[in-house]
Amino acid sequence: MTEDEAPIYMATVSAPTNIACIKYWGKADADWNTPTNDSVSITLDQSDLRAVTTAAASSKFENDRLWLNGEEEEGASESKRFRACVDGVKKLAADPAKWKDMKVHVSSYNTFPTAAGLASSAAGYAALVSALAELMDAKESYKGHLTTIARQGSGSACRSLYGGFVAWRAGTPGGRSDDEVSWSDSMAVQIADENHWPEIRAIIMVVSDAKKDTSSTAGMSTSVATSLLLQHRISKVVPERMESIEKAFLAKDFEAFGELTMRDSNQFHSVCADTYPPIFYMNDVSRQIVRIAHAYNKWAGEIRVAYTYDAGPNAVLYTLDKFVIEVGALMNHYFPSTGAKKFFNDVNYASKIAAFTLDHKLLAMTDKCGRMPLAGDVKMIYHTKSGPGPQVLDNDKDGNLDLETGLNRYTPN
Ligand code: DP6
Repeated sequence: MTEDEAPIYMATVSAPTNIACIKYWGKADADWNTPTNDSVSITLDQSDLRAVTTAAASSKFENDRLWLNGEEEEGASESKRFRACVDGVKKLAADPAKWKDMKVHVSSYNTFPTAAGLASSAAGYAALVSALAELMDAKESYKGHLTTIARQGSGSACRSLYGGFVAWRAGTPGGRSDDEVSWSDSMAVQIADENHWPEIRAIIMVVSDAKKDTSSTAGMSTSVATSLLLQHRISKVVPERMESIEKAFLAKDFEAFGELTMRDSNQFHSVCADTYPPIFYMNDVSRQIVRIAHAYNKWAGEIRVAYTYDAGPNAVLYTLDKFVIEVGALMNHYFPSTGAKKFFNDVNYASKIAAFTLDHKLLAMTDKCGRMPLAGDVKMIYHTKSGPGPQVLDNDKDGNLDLETGLNRYTPN
């Protein structure tokens, strides 16, 4: 067989984002990309927010190549993160010799703003590892093995390999006793799948779709070096919270789950403020949403909504299906639509909140937060729920690489 006739092997997957309730912030070992503390997140449904990745391998490819959102990333295939994923999955291939010397082409896109604190790297690396694993028929030697590879792409990515409520156990330098690789026990574990608590909803308020100015990696390294609050968080706060939130989630106790989620977001951003020089991810709009959420919970006499913020100003609000219209109507009252066609991802939800009448006593309370209804500060509102882990798609129908040439064929619309 000549080089030209060499087959192109291909696989396409989609992978979800996840939004942490107990946050990962700080690396224990930067080389292995392991965290200073456990974390836990909810995997979001892929119908709106997902990364779609096609990976191909062929002996006729000359180099490893990577396209992101339709643009080739020169040199990206040499990055440590990309190499850890490609070389890591190759080792788990059912027939490692077949793939060892083959170059790979990868094309990936996100259906949401990249690097704006919406966990795009989590979905992206989870999709990369899953696409490579599907392509090479990778076999885990223990449950969670692939998550240890995704973790090396981006820490939070390991949690996107499972659906539902997923913890990332920090692990130990020595790793598992049955695996010689360091930190092999730093992996994701599914606590409950997406069907355990199907009433959980997420509303994402996109406050900014711009790229953040301090990357998580840089920010957490400064926090580890300078924040004493982070040390207290690692040794005392997170271990207790992890135990409590796992119990709350399994018991479907929204009161406990919501309070822990809000407190942990607040502490993460306090660690950022305690970092020297300080890092600010939330802005005035983010803080107005926090105040309104607390005023709403106070009016209700119970926790109906819980906010959480990652390394950016966007709010993720967790709530239950019975309150999701009310919460959306309240937020939309203060942050009305810009009129943009895609302001709401879910038109059905948009019409339900438009038809909902907010209690006047509630509005009297939330008005005291000082927010005047004004369009423009919130760019988009997503209504979504928890969903499953990565899904295999059809190369022909959904793939981003040309079946004949293995070159990128995806262009953003
Ligand atoms: C605030 O996973 O993006 O979203 O491992 O350096 O790629 P790297 O960091 P990343 O950090 C995410 C931080 C967070 C909290 C979380 O998702 O747990």
